[in-house]
Amino acid sequence: MERTFLMIKPDGVQRNLVGEVVRRFETKGFTLVGLKLMKVSRELAEKHYDVHKERPFFGSLVDFITSAPVVAMVWEGDGVVAAARKIIGATNPLTAEPGTIRGDYGVSIGRNLIHGSDAIETAQREISLWFSDEELVSWEPTMKSWLY
Ligand code: PPS
Repeated sequence: MERTFLMIKPDGVQRNLVGEVVRRFETKGFTLVGLKLMKVSRELAEKHYDVHKERPFFGSLVDFITSAPVVAMVWEGDGVVAAARKIIGATNPLTAEPGTIRGDYGVSIGRNLIHGSDAIETAQREISLWFSDEELVSWEPTMKSWLY
């Protein structure tokens, strides 16, 4: 089953958007398989954004991600990588469509609330960077037997 990595950045946590973000993915129908609140080490942030290390904002992006807690998550479902990018919206919140997380809640590219893996291979790399196997839970609903 396809999985993606999402990270609610420090601005999303401090804007009290954790519940709203989780709600959007739950109600869409995807399955949560991993979640943790954490302070990010500089080493992890630099590895995560390694592909952008030559870009001018790299240092400030790493400073920001390591400045305060983030919420790291793994979600599962058919087509979840591309669907999550749509739910999140364009990188710049000012041009992100209304109805997307960034389009509804963001105004600044440097404070765009949430990261989502951009491809299946990237998701696999990011999940193994952020989570150990023991932290991920494969599960299926059991409610058929007790929900009327
Ligand atoms: S993307 O989503 O990878 O296609 O977007 P990209 O423009 O390549 O940006 C890569 C990540 O860098 C973040 N970013 C910035 N951070 C701070 N300041 C500026 N100016 C800036 N421009 C881009 C962008 O949000 C991407 O990070 P994530 O965490 O994936 O959103």
